[in-house]
Amino acid sequence: MKVRVRVPASSANLGPGFDSLGLALSLYNELTLAEADRVTVSIRGEGAAHLPADPANVVARAARMVFEAVGRPFPGARIECVNGIPLSRGLGSSAAAWLGGLLGANALLGTPLDRSAILSLAARAEGHPDNVAAALCGGLTVSCETDDGVVAVPLPVPEAIRWVALIPELTGATAEARAVLPASVPRADAVFNVQRVALLLASLQAKRVDLLHVAMDDRLHQPYRMRLFPWMAAVAEAAREAGALGCVLSGAGPSLLAAVAEDADRVARAMTRALAAAGVPSVARPLDVDTTGAITETS
Ligand code: HSE
Repeated sequence: MKVRVRVPASSANLGPGFDSLGLALSLYNELTLAEADRVTVSIRGEGAAHLPADPANVVARAARMVFEAVGRPFPGARIECVNGIPLSRGLGSSAAAWLGGLLGANALLGTPLDRSAILSLAARAEGHPDNVAAALCGGLTVSCETDDGVVAVPLPVPEAIRWVALIPELTGATAEARAVLPASVPRADAVFNVQRVALLLASLQAKRVDLLHVAMDDRLHQPYRMRLFPWMAAVAEAAREAGALGCVLSGAGPSLLAAVAEDADRVARAMTRALAAAGVPSVARPLDVDTTGAITETS
């Protein structure tokens, strides 16, 4: 038996929604898992030269996690990955790897775990639920950790908005980008973010794209992460001058994500130019929202 899984990229936070919002994007990791009596891993595409091709691979660890969760010994699996999501860029590559392994192994076992159990396992492995929830459900997904696991609700996003991911040719470590955050924040900053994340969801629902420049502002993580990505403000400013509705750090960075109503290519060019002026080469990719989420097929 063989299972094929496709998992989209995701951009977490969207500015103010730290650890709670994620947007699934039309860039994919695909993998197959087949029954085997040991672990073998082959990787093509992103990370082929760097990722472990042995039981330490995240997809293999995720597969083992499912077997252990249902009390079955893990014999191994033949895993073949074709990765389209760039690694360590804030575009959810590790969320996609965890989910791919969890969904694949779960399907191999006849789906003993429901989606909510998969989501909670993936969020625990990742340490935050926003990327995995969006990658699993698709669309703009709100996720929330509760005592009973993670709950996630995907919401529609106006189709008129285009999204541009600016992907620098440098990597970022999520752990480092979380370590620069303070343990507590002033109440005024917490209120600032609560107001903006609520406004962001309301503006998207009401199609008030004119409010996104206010609604995508943030005081919980981006101001601290500027230390790691000192060019962030200049690139975001260039994006806005070129017509972006808002421009934010994608997840823990270093990619940036711009929401655009009109000429996405113009915004993409302006962002690439601004980052090049800071000495960092990059690729800008206009992307659609993936509204489907992860797909699993068994053959
Ligand atoms: N919400 C997480 C963070 C996303 O910003 O650290 C990491 O991809």
